[in-house]
Amino acid sequence: MLYNFDEIIDRRDTGSVKWHYTDDTIPLWVADMDFKAAQPILNAIEKIAQHGILGYTKPTAALYKSIIDWHGSRYDLWLDEQHILFSPGVVPSLALMMSVFTEVGDAVLVNDPIYTPFMTKVEQNGRKLVTSALKEIEGKYRLDLADIEAKIVEYKVKLYLLCNPHNPGGRVWSREELEALLSICKKYNVAIVSDEIHQDLTLQGHTFTPFLTLAKDYEHNVVSLTSMTKTFNIAGIKGSMIFAKDEALLRKISEQQNLNDEYELNLFAYAAMCSAYEQGGEWLAQALAYIESNIELTIHFLEGHLPKIKVMRPEASYLIWLDCSAYGQEDQVLYETLRDAKVELNSGIKYGNEGHLKMRINVACPQAVLREGLNRIYTALSSDDN
Ligand SMILES: Cc1ncc(COP(=O)(O)O)c(C=O)c1O
Repeated sequence: MLYNFDEIIDRRDTGSVKWHYTDDTIPLWVADMDFKAAQPILNAIEKIAQHGILGYTKPTAALYKSIIDWHGSRYDLWLDEQHILFSPGVVPSLALMMSVFTEVGDAVLVNDPIYTPFMTKVEQNGRKLVTSALKEIEGKYRLDLADIEAKIVEYKVKLYLLCNPHNPGGRVWSREELEALLSICKKYNVAIVSDEIHQDLTLQGHTFTPFLTLAKDYEHNVVSLTSMTKTFNIAGIKGSMIFAKDEALLRKISEQQNLNDEYELNLFAYAAMCSAYEQGGEWLAQALAYIESNIELTIHFLEGHLPKIKVMRPEASYLIWLDCSAYGQEDQVLYETLRDAKVELNSGIKYGNEGHLKMRINVACPQAVLREGLNRIYTALSSDDN
């Protein structure tokens, strides 16, 4: 079936986090898409409502098979049922990993910039946050392996939280980079948790490598976290997976989950997940093609209208990292200048010090909305452009 991503669906007054305004502000911020979900997912949810019984539900054999087939056939990540645990979200799982791999006071390493909860969950759980700045080389972020190793030694780091693909920089870390990172972590016995929630949004020309496929002799120290919610734009459904291959590690994760009884999803999430992985591929391919054209449109617009913005071309997902330092001296002023022009982007400083005077734009919306948003950005910033 052909999906119409140009359709503008009013999300105001639905409790949407993204569309929280009372005026006509255009939201180009929080990471969900303004596209209707895949028809098979909507059908699966409707089927449950029609059935009318909403009782306690557990994962079915079909659900496990759908997860296994999706990850095996797309990424050569072959899982058995027992390697798959469920969790209400990737962020709750990040928090859970603190108690799986570390004690209060232990150091946890993350990159800077990074999706904000990587920092907040470490600190809220009483761990020491250590950051390693990404290096920007030829318009792309790279891991600073020498700095990572130095920080691991200096702070006796126990856990490294990796974001692959990277939010907000959009990097899909190469196999070589991941292997180099793994060998450093092995050397100092540092556990790795890889948040791979943006995996399925990898753009053409790039290859996503699940960390677990590299970690054959280090499986006792590697966990990956992923979800169908980002891929299929069903974040409000809530639900995610934890993958690990080592038996003792899986037991430890389950024990931690049991403490708060947080190992189950609701029946809509199980059904959405299963139908997404079984039948969502067609929607995803079309959504990605639309996103690619929105990325091109955005880059082209900014090059033409606001050439002093340095754009980091993403290798995955629909978030683009913009260096706006030529257009402002203060993060809050930059953010508010755009808000005053009725367009909202994420302020880069929320992703760490490296986000100073950067902004993150979400381009997963109908093109007409995106064009209007870009025009507003132009109006807001071009008045300072002299
Ligand atoms: C890297 C990353 N991890 C996790 C999440 C959110 O995951 P969840 O909604 O499953 O907690 C996001 C959402 O934007 C994200 O970008």
